[in-house]
Amino acid sequence: MNKLVRFGVSIEKDLHDKFNEGIKKLGYENRSEAIRDLMRNSFVEDKWNRNSIVVGGISIVYDHHKRELLNKIMDLQHNYHEIIISTQHVHLTHNDCLEILITKGKSQTIKELYGKIKALKGVGHVSIMQSGILSEIIKLDEK
Ligand code: NI
Repeated sequence: MNKLVRFGVSIEKDLHDKFNEGIKKLGYENRSEAIRDLMRNSFVEDKWNRNSIVVGGISIVYDHHKRELLNKIMDLQHNYHEIIISTQHVHLTHNDCLEILITKGKSQTIKELYGKIKALKGVGHVSIMQSGILSEIIKLDEK
């Protein structure tokens, strides 16, 4: 485990009060954990913006009776098999399926796959989860 360091921060009172109020609503018990989360989020966001190797998820809700759509979703998954490390399929209702793709690869490639799935005609809700690999996020010597 990394050694903890303490540091002082000066910010405007309004911003301070708003931050305290916001993190209380989110359920944080202390400011340190909230600040650590903000830092991690900003490192992950930076990784995604710089086309680094990241992990993420794409969720797709669709009607499995639309056979042509089903084939297109499957074709796309095979075209991007190198970045899809796992898939999970759940039969939500008689009609609806939820598929979750866990991806690992260049962020642009993951976003490209996400864009192509989202653009499919007849597809339901599609969303992307942007995450990162913790040991890589905290590497400070990276160029
Ligand atoms: Ni299903």
